[in-house]
Amino acid sequence: MLKTDAWVLHPGQDGAAPARTTGEALSREQFALGELGDNEVLVEPLYGSWEANLDHALSRSPIDVCRARGEDAVIIGNLGVVRVLRTGSSPRAESFQEGDICLVMPFGKTDRHGYAELVYAYDMPGTIGLLAKQTKLEADILLRVPPLTPYSLPQWAAYARYFTAWDNWRTALRCWQAQLPDERPADHLVFGWGGGVTFAEMLLARRAGFRVAMTTSTDERMDMLRRNGITGVDRRLFPDLVHRPELAGQDAEYDARHRAAQKEFLRTIGELSDGAGVAIFIDNMGAPLHRATLKALARQGVLTTCGWKQGMSTTSLRASECIGRHLHVHTHVWRLQDSATIRDHQENTGWIPDIDETKIYGFDDIPALAEEYSIGKLDTYFPIFQVNPV
Ligand SMILES: NC(=O)c1ccc[n+]([C@@H]2O[C@H](COP(=O)([O-])OP(=O)(O)OC[C@H]3O[C@@H](n4cnc5c(N)ncnc54)[C@H](OP(=O)(O)O)[C@@H]3O)[C@@H](O)[C@H]2O)c1
Repeated sequence: MLKTDAWVLHPGQDGAAPARTTGEALSREQFALGELGDNEVLVEPLYGSWEANLDHALSRSPIDVCRARGEDAVIIGNLGVVRVLRTGSSPRAESFQEGDICLVMPFGKTDRHGYAELVYAYDMPGTIGLLAKQTKLEADILLRVPPLTPYSLPQWAAYARYFTAWDNWRTALRCWQAQLPDERPADHLVFGWGGGVTFAEMLLARRAGFRVAMTTSTDERMDMLRRNGITGVDRRLFPDLVHRPELAGQDAEYDARHRAAQKEFLRTIGELSDGAGVAIFIDNMGAPLHRATLKALARQGVLTTCGWKQGMSTTSLRASECIGRHLHVHTHVWRLQDSATIRDHQENTGWIPDIDETKIYGFDDIPALAEEYSIGKLDTYFPIFQVNPV
């Protein structure tokens, strides 16, 4: 019976307040991995990427993954770089060798076209993730890192926001082109609310020739955007842009501040787009910014999303959306069979983030990393932790 040292998540207690210091939801334990199945590969995680699905799992929102899976102990963590230790006996498992370095594709259950329905080491029952010194994974979700790559393993560990961005951008761009096939991208603005997925999409949009701008809230990230050829828009200039339904119509001062923030935001968008509005708006924030997002959208504009970080329930006026010919794009993860293509696009074009290796978290520091991410204290969009020495 295989066992490992791991950070383990147990179900939340009925009636208990959700642990909002998210790191407290994890406990360090010995975890039984069971025997290695025919199609499984025993690996040691090297680097992992801290992402929103981990934060969702720890804050048990929108679901308690342990309860959804009907399991008392779960190891989360589905995005990172691992080293192969031993393989099962299936042909697919045996195509890997001890020492191979691989990326983990987070597919638990796919639909018949290869798109994710359940996510590995999140809501897919029976799957074991990367917050462990050793783990076992299905061979089908391992993708080799190019052996002679010029990029570091921490850079590769940040792949998932890029893979998601590739898929979301491809769909959004095709939707925009469906209505405006003959337009020059240079006359149009791609805009987004901050975050790692948006950043990666902005780089694709810039390469496609669009004007690109996104919001951010720190001086460091304003610099980082400038270095990457993206116009930074400082969202600290309009803090009241966030729609607060509990105050709207009840608090005249808030209403006035919200209107002023919206006016300033739309003025900025007008300036960046020669008055046209946003051609493709990348919005992974959701509810409290939905009104501002729709108001900023140009005619024939595309609102594209794969996330709902600030709220997942949104409403829109169908008549306005139809008359404005707005297309709404919703995507999730990417298509499993596109994984190698996206990896090769990263390798061949250098579309991969810079990682400050002095700021990589250790395995013992994972609860602190969880906490700092959940309160927005990190200065990178690509937080990385190390599990085992390379
Ligand atoms: N469905 C999928 O396959 C998939 C895949 C990846 C991510 N997602 C989802 O997409 C969302 C974003 O993920 P991510 O990894 O790109 O982002 P992230 O790295 O988690 O960063 C979120 C960023 O949002 C910005 N932000 C926070 N509050 C904001 C507000 N009120 N207004 C404007 N910006 C705000 C902050 O950036 P600044 O401080 O720089 O402004 C923050 O750093 C998450 O909900 C995630 O679950 C979904």
